[in-house]
This record gives sequence, structure tokens and C-alpha cells, in this order.
Amino acid sequence: MTPEENLTDLRAEARRAMEAAYAPYSGFRVGAAIQTADGRIHAGCNVENASFSVTMCAERVAIGAAVAAGDRSFRRVFICSTSVEPVPPCGVCRQALSEFGPDLEVISEGSGGLARTWTLRQLLPDQFRLEEHESPRNPDRERPT
Ligand code: THU
Repeated sequence: MTPEENLTDLRAEARRAMEAAYAPYSGFRVGAAIQTADGRIHAGCNVENASFSVTMCAERVAIGAAVAAGDRSFRRVFICSTSVEPVPPCGVCRQALSEFGPDLEVISEGSGGLARTWTLRQLLPDQFRLEEHESPRNPDRERPT
């Protein structure tokens, strides 16, 4: 199945994850579903914590699920939340997503039904990439893909 054919499934997975969100502090539920170049889908939701800074965003939870399953090549991410307006990913999640490609398509849908679409490059024009700032300290490390 191509990524195009699978947008319905991607949205459904993001919404399913949003229902599972653990957000007792903000009440703001977020779901994210990330689609690989060959159509596989991995979902995540926000997971809050009493120590607020420990909270994980839905997008980064989805990235973790994808990477743990062996996938690192992403085509698009679908985000949904309990906000009426579509939420853009936060700055930390933009940087996290950019690790796997600036051309990622980012779709966000609000509870009001409206959606917005960006490329990651639009959301984060100047990503930080370590290999552009070479340091001789650890030449044997694994290279990013
Ligand atoms: N949140 C996300 O899950 N993704 C974002 O891109 C923005 C914020 C979550 C974190 C927190 O649990 C709640 O939304 C309110 O900030």
C-alpha cells in the first residue's frame, strides 16, 4: 500500500493514540502517527508527569515507537489534538523530527476538523545537525542515517 492510499489509516491511528493520551495536568490530548516511506505506521500520544518537565509529546513518543520497531525513514506525520485549531508541533519536536529528514510532511488536524500541512523545512528552516559541526572527539561513533 502506498503512503497516499494509507492517509485514512494514518489519521485513524493518530486519533486512536490521542484517546490513549495521559494528560491529567493539562487536559490537552495529542495523538501523532508517523508513516514510513513504505507505508508502515507508528503512533504515539502525550504522556504527562507530575514533574512537568518530564512530560513527553506525542510526536516524540511516535518517533520512539518507530525507531524501536526498526524504522527511521519517514514520509509524513499526522497530528491531532483536543484543540479546535490544528496544533503545530512544538520546537523540541521539530528538532526531533528533523533528525529523520527535513522534507517530512507534517499534517495537523484540529478537533474542529480543519487541517494544516507544512514541510518540516518550513517549520524548522535551520535545523541543528551535528555532522555540520564536526568534532574530532569521537570519530568511531555511529553515523546518523
Ligand atoms: N504537546 C504535544 O504532545 N505535542 C506538541 O507538539 C505540543 C504539546 C503536549 C505536551 C503536553 O502534554 C500538552 O500537549 C500541553 O502542552
